[in-house]
Order: sequence, then C-alpha cells, then structure tokens
Amino acid sequence: MTPPAHRATTANLGGAYPFVAGSTLGKKGVVVGRDLLGGTFCYDPFQLYNAGVLTNPNMVVFGQIGRGKSSFVKSYLWRQLVFGARSWIIDPKGEYCELAKACGTIPVKLHPGGNLRLNPLDPGSGESAIGMNEAGFDPGRDRQNSLLVSLASTCLGRQLLPGERTALELALGDATARCAGVPVLPLVVDALFSPSLSSARAVHIDRDALASEGRDVALELRRLVHGDLRGMFDAETTRGLSLDGQVVVLDLSAVYGSDALAAIMVCALAWLQAFMGKPGHSKLFIVIDEAWAIMANLSIARWLQASWKLARAHGIANMAIFHRISDMSSVGDEGSWQVGLAQGLLADSETRVIYGQSPGEVNLAQQDLSLSATEVQLLQRIGCGTALWKVAQRSFLVRHVLSAAERSMVNTDARMANDPRVYT
Ligand SMILES: Nc1ncnc2c1ncn2[C@@H]1O[C@H](COP(=O)(O)OP(=O)(O)OP(=O)(O)O)[C@@H](O)[C@H]1O
Ligand SMILES: [Mg+2]
Repeated sequence: MTPPAHRATTANLGGAYPFVAGSTLGKKGVVVGRDLLGGTFCYDPFQLYNAGVLTNPNMVVFGQIGRGKSSFVKSYLWRQLVFGARSWIIDPKGEYCELAKACGTIPVKLHPGGNLRLNPLDPGSGESAIGMNEAGFDPGRDRQNSLLVSLASTCLGRQLLPGERTALELALGDATARCAGVPVLPLVVDALFSPSLSSARAVHIDRDALASEGRDVALELRRLVHGDLRGMFDAETTRGLSLDGQVVVLDLSAVYGSDALAAIMVCALAWLQAFMGKPGHSKLFIVIDEAWAIMANLSIARWLQASWKLARAHGIANMAIFHRISDMSSVGDEGSWQVGLAQGLLADSETRVIYGQSPGEVNLAQQDLSLSATEVQLLQRIGCGTALWKVAQRSFLVRHVLSAAERSMVNTDARMANDPRVYT
C-alpha cells in the first residue's frame, strides 16, 4: 500500500534529510533551469560573491562533446543582459554569431589577409593605459613588453634567451620613438632587424651584434607582418572597433586547428587585456570556449592565470570550457608549469559545472573535484543539458532549460544535419 503523501517546507525537509537536499542558492540572478532535487536554480557569481557564498566569481565548465556546454554559456550570457552584464567571448569555432546577432552586434572575425586589424600593442582604455606613474614605472609599456615576449616565445616554441629578451625590449623602445605614438608590430620587427645606435650602446655592443641577438625573434614575428599570418595584427586597430558593446565576440574559427592558433590567441587576449578594468564599466564575463585547445601554451596559461587572479579587482567573472577533467593535467608533463597553472586555474574557479563524463574520466577526477561516490555515478548517467554544479562546497543537479528562441540561438546540430544556413 502506498503511504499517504506528506507535505513539509523545504527548511524542514533539509533538516529531515541532511546531506541529501540542501538549501538553494537563493532566487537572485539568472534562472539557469530546474534543480532536480526541487525548485528553480538561479545563479549569479557577483551576487554570490557579495553575499560571501563565493570567494571568487570564476567558473570552469567540463563535459563530453555535445553535452550542452556552449549552449548553457550562450543562453546564460543572453539572460545576463537583463541584469546589465556584458561579455567578451573568445570563440574558436565561430558559433557565437547567433548570440551576437540577437544582441545587435557583429562578431569580430579575424582571418589572415582579412580587413579587420587588432593592434596588440594598443594602449586600450584599461588600467594599463594610464601612462608613466610617479615612480617612473609605465604599466602600458610593461604590458606591451610582456606581450612581445609571450608572442615571441609562443612563435619560437621555447623560452627566450637573455639576449633575445633584451633585443626585443630595446626594439619596442626604438619602435615607439620612431613613430612617436603607439607602435605597431611591423615597426618592432624593423627595429629588431635594424636597431638604433642608442639601443646598441645601452648594452655595450654594436648595432650588428644587437641585430644578430634579435634575428630569430624578428624572423618569427615577421610571419605576422609579411608571412602567412599577415593582415590581423600588423597595423593600427580598425577604426570603429570597440569593446563597448554588450556582447563582443572574437571569432577565431578561420584559424582554429592551425598551428598559429596560440600566437593569434596571445595577440587577441593582449588586445582584450588592454581594455580590462576600464573605469565605470559594469560587470563583465570573459568566456574562453574550447579552452582545452590552448591551455598547453604557457603564455596563454599565464594570461589566463592573471585574468583569473584579477577577476575580483576588475569586476570580471571568467568562464572557461573544457572537455575532460583530465584536460587540466594533460596540458603538459607532470610537474610542468602548464600543469601547475591549470591546477591553479581550477583552484581559482569556485564554481564548477560538470556535464556527463566517461566512467574512466570521472573516477580519475573524483579527488580533483572533491566528488562523492554518488556524484561520480551520476556523472556517468546524466544526458545532454543536465550538469552537476559544484558551487563552493555545495552541489546541485541542474537541468538547463532553454526557451524556444534560445534553442535556435544555441543549435550546433544544424551542421551535423547539413543545414543549408550553415557552411553555404
Ligand atoms: N539544455 C538543453 N536542452 C535541449 N537541447 C540542448 C540543451 N543543451 C544543448 N542542447 C543541444 O545539444 C546540442 C549540442 O550542444 P552544445 O553545442 O552546447 O554542446 P557542447 O557541449 O558545447 O559540444 P562541443 O564539445 O562539441 O563544443 C545543441 O545543438 C543544442 O541544441
Ligand atoms: Mg561547445
């Protein structure tokens, strides 16, 4: 015989079934979907940070292919618009164009030989644009210098030698002096091939010797100026291009899968970084979709780490999307910088959204993500659109609900179905 129904408040049920049904995160912020243990699931990292539930607003999303990771992120950013939040998206597969269209913005599509240019040496309008401070330290110059070092070491595939690092720093000085304004990469390459007398004297060698120190770096950077990657980062930023829109999409699909993706990401991220922390800006989400593809690059991993660490200070919530949880440990050799940075990124992301995982994967990750035995089993069974949310110490099983309008915005199956609207 079925026992009679019993009704109780969620507060009483929480007491009656401790560790089974916890309290919700509250009703503030964006509605994500249904909490499968009851009720509506709402989430806003800024609200939760202010309420002391989270100590950082960053999020990592994991999930096998096609589980709904990008769909969740797209619709979440769309819903956040109502709350005045903006977003900058690094879109390696070119699938955020529908979201951009719905928000009335045009994705910035970068491709070699294209019409759009981003100057990675742009001073931007963020904190580093202020200029030299009283102590003679210029954060803008410092940012330009570290971008060039990252870019050169990414292109060379190794750390720079002391002589190369110095030649690059002096070339930046020469390029700035020669244009009396904001330098562009072609000027830096020219200055590497042909340094000034004063630069050579500064390091007590002659001009030919300094040019020879910087030659390998010059030859690699030349690829972005005259070689196969020209036409993206080799001139002033295209007029009218701004990061002030509600949703800014950097579409890198034209170079996804190319060996140059990392170098292009370094330039694109440097350009975004110049505009971070702009005074008066509202809360901002920075999204790196397909982050697993670029984490192995040390320069990018370092940039991500800096962005994650600065999140609170700049009012930024970072979101990075990975496939497998082991992506975090497979980005480099055991004990390597890359693995250390990836683990740091995980530690600095107090919200973890985990979609379905394979059995081997989830057993491996149990410890890294502090998963209970029940959660491990669940992750092997949940289907598309449902995820385990770990928010600080708490867990929720959430079914992400899409509206009819959102469904067409997030549909990536169209490509599989040979939809003529895509790939014409
Ligand atoms: N909550 C949901 N409800 C219904 N359908 C969904 C839901 N989430 C995603 N889908 C559908 O599943 C398909 C795959 O989703 P999506 O592209 O977001 O997966 P993904 O995890 O980002 O995949 P990939 O790893 O290939 O990038 C989409 O076409 C989308 O329409
Ligand atoms: Mg995706």
